[in-house]
Amino acid sequence: MNEFNPPRYLAPFESRSFPHLFTDVLVIGSGAAGLRAAIEASRHADVAIVTKDELKASNTDWAQGGIAAAIGPDDSADLHAEDTIEVACGLSVAEAVRSIVGQAPERIRELIDWGAEFDLDEHGEPALTREGGHSRRRVLHARGDATGAELEKTLIARLASCDRIRTLEHTYVVDLLTLDNTCLGAVIWSQTYGMTLVWADAVILATGGAGQVFRETTNPRIATGDGLAMAYRAGCKLCDIEFVQFHPTTLYVAGAARVLISEAARGEGGILVNKYGERFMEKYSPKKELAPRDVVSRAVLSEMHQTGDTNVYLDLTHVSAAQLSSRFPRIKELCSLFDINVSEDWIPVCPSAHYMVGGVWTEPDASTSVEHLFACGEVAWTGLHGANRMGSNSLLEALAMGKMAGEAAGKMSAATGEGKHQRPPEIKAEPRKPEIGAIDLGDVRSSVRSNMWRNVGIVRHRQDLQRAIERFRFWSGYVLERNFSDPRGWRIQNLLIIAELIAKAALDREESRGVHYRADFPESEAEPRHSFTQKPEATAG
Ligand code: FAD
Ligand code: SIN
Repeated sequence: MNEFNPPRYLAPFESRSFPHLFTDVLVIGSGAAGLRAAIEASRHADVAIVTKDELKASNTDWAQGGIAAAIGPDDSADLHAEDTIEVACGLSVAEAVRSIVGQAPERIRELIDWGAEFDLDEHGEPALTREGGHSRRRVLHARGDATGAELEKTLIARLASCDRIRTLEHTYVVDLLTLDNTCLGAVIWSQTYGMTLVWADAVILATGGAGQVFRETTNPRIATGDGLAMAYRAGCKLCDIEFVQFHPTTLYVAGAARVLISEAARGEGGILVNKYGERFMEKYSPKKELAPRDVVSRAVLSEMHQTGDTNVYLDLTHVSAAQLSSRFPRIKELCSLFDINVSEDWIPVCPSAHYMVGGVWTEPDASTSVEHLFACGEVAWTGLHGANRMGSNSLLEALAMGKMAGEAAGKMSAATGEGKHQRPPEIKAEPRKPEIGAIDLGDVRSSVRSNMWRNVGIVRHRQDLQRAIERFRFWSGYVLERNFSDPRGWRIQNLLIIAELIAKAALDREESRGVHYRADFPESEAEPRHSFTQKPEATAG
C-alpha cells in the first residue's frame, strides 16, 4: 500500500471504500483564475471544475474597481510595468511583471469577444479610471462598480461553448493526493455523494484568497485559504505569505458586513476626513488619497488613534449625483440600506484585510514545486505584486496566469497519451483522534480571526506575533489532530494552519516593506529578500 500525502483529515481511510472519478485536468475553484484556466485547458484535454459553492461564488464576483490594462493613448505596457514594480517595493520579478501586464490588452479583447460589456466613454471606447499607484488612467470597469460580476458572468457563459468541461458545484476539496512529490488528484466531498477520489493528469489550484483568516475583511465567506493549506500539506513551497494587503476603506457600520468602498471612489475625487472634517492624507503622503493602500491604511489607523474614533470618513458629497449613480450604483445602494445618502453624508470607513499578496510559489508557466500541480490567481505567488499590490492588477493576474496554467496543464495531460486512467493506487490513512462534540468550532474560528486581526494586522510587533503563534499552537493541539466529517471542521483546520504560517513569516521578517509593517523594525533592509515556507519533511526531501 502506498504512503500518500494525506488524505489528511479523513477518518480511517482506505481508497477501496470510496468512489473514484477520472479526468485529464482537475481545476479547483471557479473564480476568474479557475474559469480562465479551465477554458484554456479544454482546448487540449477533458476538464473537471470542482468548486465549493455555486459557480459564481468567489472574490472575483465581488470585485468592484476594475481591471488594469494599458490601452489608453498615453499609456504602454512598459509604463504599466514600471508602476507595478515601483509599488512592489523591491520584491517583484521583472519578467513576471512584463509577461502579465503585457498580456492585458489581449485578455481584455478576448473578454469583449466573449460578450463582456465594459463601461464606455463618450467616444465609445472603454472608459478608464485611476487608482493608487497607477500613473495613467488604465482601469476598465463594468456596470460602474460591478466589474468582477461582469467577468464572472462572461466566463461562466463561455463555459457553455466548451464541451470538454464539466462542473461540480457545492463540492468541497478536502485535500490534494500526492505521491513522491507528484500530484495525482484530490479528495472531494459533497453533501450528496460524500467522499470521492478524483484522479487527474494535472491539477490546477485556483482557490483564491484567505481574507477570512482576519476578523475584519472585505472577502466573502468562501475565502478561507483552503488552497494555501492544502498546498502546504502537499509539500509545496510558499512564498512571501507575510504580505497581506489591507484595504483602507471598508464600510464601518455596526451590524453591516465589512463591504468594500472601492478605491475608485477616491480615484474619482473622494476625500478622506477625520471626525472633525479635517482632510488628513496630505500629512502622510504627497499622493494624498491615491497613495499606495498600505500608506493610506496606516494613515487611517493613525487618525483613528489620534481622534479616539472607530473609523474615519470618505466624503463623496462634492461628486455629482449623476457620476455617483453611473460609477458606484452598488455602493450607493448599499449605503442607502444603512440610511447613508452618499450625496449628503460622509461614509464611515475603516481598513480591513483584503488580498493575499504572497502564496503558492509558481514558475512563469504556473507550475508549483510539486510535479503536475499548477496554481494561479490569488492563491499563487507569481512575482507580480512583490511586497504590495497595485489596485486592479489581480483580476488581470488571475486571467493571465489562468490562461498560462490551463495551457500548461492541458498540454501536460495531452502528452500523457494512452494508458492513463488505470486502476488507481490503493491507499490507506491511519486512524486519527475522533471528532469530539466538546469543541465549539464557531468559537475557535472567531478566536483565530480576532487573534489575527489584533496581533498580525496592519501594524505588527514581535511580542504580539509571538503571542499569536503561541495561541495558534495551543488551539492546534486539539483541533488539527481530530477527524472532522464535513467542511465546517476542515475549514477551521485550514484557517488555523495558515494563521500560524502567516504569523511565523511575519515574525521572521524583521523589517518593514510594502504591506508588511513592523513597529519594532520600521525601516526596510538594504537587500530585498523573499521568504519561503515549506513543510519541514518536504524541505528535507
Ligand atoms: P476567487 O475569485 O476567490 O475564486 C476562488 C474559487 O475557489 C471560488 O470559486 C471558491 O469557491 C473556490 N474554492 C476555494 N476553496 C475551495 C475548496 N476547498 N474546494 C472547492 N472550491 C474552493 N481585484 C482587482 O483586480 N480589481 C478589483 O476591482 C478588485 N476588487 C475587489 C473587491 C473585493 C470586495 C474583493 C474581496 C477583492 C477584490 N479584488 C479586486 C481582488 C480580486 O477579486 C481577487 O484577487 C481575484 O478575483 C481572485 O480570483 P481567483 O480566481 O484567484 O479567486
Ligand atoms: C477596489 O475597488 O478598491 C479594489 C480594487 C482592487 O482590490 O484591486
